[in-house]
Amino acid sequence: MFKIVHKRVLNTSVVLMNIEAPFIAKKAQAGQFIIFRIDEMGERVPLTIADYDREKGTITIIFQIVGKTTEHLATLNEGDTILDVAGPLGIPTHVDSNAKRVCVIGGGVGCAIAYPQAKELFGRGVEVDVIAGFRNKDIVILEDEFKAVSNNFILCTDDGSKGKKGFVTEALKEQIDAGVKYDAVIAIGPVPMMKFVCAVTKPYDIKTIVSLNPIMIDGTGMCGGCRVTVGGEIKYACVDGPDFDGHLVDFDELMKRNSTYREQEHNCRMMNSIK
Ligand SMILES: Cc1cc2nc3c(=O)[nH]c(=O)nc-3n(C[C@H](O)[C@H](O)[C@H](O)COP(=O)(O)OP(=O)(O)OC[C@H]3O[C@@H](n4cnc5c(N)ncnc54)[C@H](O)[C@@H]3O)c2cc1C
Ligand code: FES
Repeated sequence: MFKIVHKRVLNTSVVLMNIEAPFIAKKAQAGQFIIFRIDEMGERVPLTIADYDREKGTITIIFQIVGKTTEHLATLNEGDTILDVAGPLGIPTHVDSNAKRVCVIGGGVGCAIAYPQAKELFGRGVEVDVIAGFRNKDIVILEDEFKAVSNNFILCTDDGSKGKKGFVTEALKEQIDAGVKYDAVIAIGPVPMMKFVCAVTKPYDIKTIVSLNPIMIDGTGMCGGCRVTVGGEIKYACVDGPDFDGHLVDFDELMKRNSTYREQEHNCRMMNSIK
């Protein structure tokens, strides 16, 4: 059993929880994730390890309430327990040790996944620019946390209600056109956002790392659910990723595969609201 020791609601649909998981906290690195099951009837759901405290033996998860399991998880409170938390899973993010300046881009709840990457790079002395994008000011998360782990923080909202008006891709292009030299860009968010960031960086030949979120089931490379095509080769995001070279990812295939169960997920939500 894994105890929830802290819960904070970040906005109307995003929740942060610290969970007691000493063995995972001891080994976790930026870019890795867990798979949890709330109870024995629960489905297995992957979430990124947004932070960890090795001394307290806790990990942080930040999740968006999108369906059955995340809705259920959000009803739990401090002191409640989760049946299984498996991890750390996946390969930690790798940025060349010679990198001097890196741009970390987060879109929406993707910021929860981008945060540990910015923190890790900043901690090792890399100059970090963070570009965080949200639809509007009401759903901005982790602003103070990002400011604490970056040299330059650019906040964008689609409607201009906070920070710069426009998409993260426009802010990135402005930085590059202004002469900022990035050794790498890390982009994490909705699949179309990652695809368009890669389209911006490709002509400049800037190494671009993306974190992929295909449907995952076992998280051990056995079921094939998280299959993605990278550089024409089949990869399994749970064991070969979730980070990949964005310039090689087949994003269109990923979008198609991610929508495979949309109908069933929709039915599921209807069933829940009827109960
Ligand atoms: C490696 C990885 C890390 C992730 N990290 C985070 C995170 O830090 N914060 C966060 O909010 N979300 C994260 N996600 C997405 C998260 O797993 C889904 O939002 C969650 O599974 C939704 O489950 P549900 O039952 O609430 O919703 P459902 O109604 O079942 O599904 C809603 C949507 O979630 C996605 N999804 C559903 N089941 C899975 C599954 N087993 N694996 C992957 N995606 C699924 C699908 O796109 C689906 O359309 C991550 C996904 C992956 C693969
Ligand atoms: S989740 Fe089953 S192979 Fe990756």
